[in-house]
Amino acid sequence: MTISKSIENAFNEQINAELFSSYLYLSMSAYFSANNLTGFASWFTIQAQEEVEHAMKMYKFVLERGGKITLKTINAPKADFKNTLEIVEEAYKHELLVTSLITKLYETSLSEKDYASANFLKWFIDEQVEEEANTSQLVEWVKMTEGKASTLMMVDHQMSKRAKD
Ligand SMILES: [Fe+2]
Ligand SMILES: [Fe+2]
Repeated sequence: MTISKSIENAFNEQINAELFSSYLYLSMSAYFSANNLTGFASWFTIQAQEEVEHAMKMYKFVLERGGKITLKTINAPKADFKNTLEIVEEAYKHELLVTSLITKLYETSLSEKDYASANFLKWFIDEQVEEEANTSQLVEWVKMTEGKASTLMMVDHQMSKRAKD
């Protein structure tokens, strides 16, 4: 069964959302690099790369199903940030948004009886649980520092340990 036009379009939109996520995390990473928080910078660069992988997973799936890839304009992410807490809170909020998009895509697949797409999306549903947990933990960690630079450096060191998986 080939992919329907509406599911194809929804995947193309989601590919765009994943690439925007990558752009957003890269912009956040640049803030950390400029502010000497190299652990945060590295964590967000890895996160940005992961989002490209998410986009590519969907890209391959659409093609495998005989669908057409139509790449859309990627919006510019925010470039100016106030502080670390603002960034991690925005990252968490962004992941909540992505979860809602994935959920909608899953529901559309089910309503169209496109079980192949629904099955494929299960991986993303699980991934979002992890993405939400990771970013909400970041918010908690940064809050725990209560703005103290020395404690923030400890969190930064912890974040430098994230390896590319
Ligand atoms: Fe993603
Ligand atoms: Fe994500």
